[in-house]
Amino acid sequence: MRKKFVAGNWKMHGSFQKNAALLDSLKAQSENLACEVAVCVPYPYLAQVQALVEGSRIALGAQNLSEHASGAFTGEVSAAMLGEFACRYVLVGHSERRTIYGESDAVVAEKFAAALASGLVPVLCVGEKLDEREGGLTDQVVSRQMAAVLERVGVAAFAKAVVAYEPVWAIGTGMTASPAQAQDVHMAIRAQVAALDAGVASGLQILYGGSVKPQNAKELFSQADIDGGLIGGAALVADDFLAICQAAV
Ligand code: PGA
Repeated sequence: MRKKFVAGNWKMHGSFQKNAALLDSLKAQSENLACEVAVCVPYPYLAQVQALVEGSRIALGAQNLSEHASGAFTGEVSAAMLGEFACRYVLVGHSERRTIYGESDAVVAEKFAAALASGLVPVLCVGEKLDEREGGLTDQVVSRQMAAVLERVGVAAFAKAVVAYEPVWAIGTGMTASPAQAQDVHMAIRAQVAALDAGVASGLQILYGGSVKPQNAKELFSQADIDGGLIGGAALVADDFLAICQAAV
């Protein structure tokens, strides 16, 4: 039985003061949650949040990493650097990285490999754009994004990774995929992995992301192949994030 997992993606939000207040509330109520919990924070707050979550059930994550180990890559951050802050997770290939910063499937696959090589758990984000969904291309796009990484690292690597299905049209828009729409894609992702290794597929946590709120979390998370959520906007509001975590049982 897969454990449910809820990860917050703070995106480019926060301040020392806001982070401390948010983590105080989360820590106070996270002890009796049934699911795994993580917060993926902006780089400058890694040290602060590392200290704040120490000894709690909340794991630390980052939102991006370089595909390179070190070198002349001004402005970039390596997996090993993230490891020094006791990061457990790192988002890889979030749609904002793919669309705004032009990360190709190949670059995403390299980043995934770099995360694994440093012992971080990559959270691979996949998902189609609105025109792709409307054009009936959802399965094709998601399976292409998955295949690029599977071919680069091999299926066994997914025993130490998480996948997040995030339809781009649902991110930050208030438009959520229906539980049935999301379940269809999650099932297809699991089947793609199962075709290579059934054991890895059955243990793989596949999160749903895209306008998850306390009101819709329970129904989404009760689908057979939805193992939790990657939460953007609602992760910045302690009560909302906690309510979403409570829906993950
Ligand atoms: P949202 O973002 O919950 O605000 O839609 C999700 C994400 O981008 O990970």
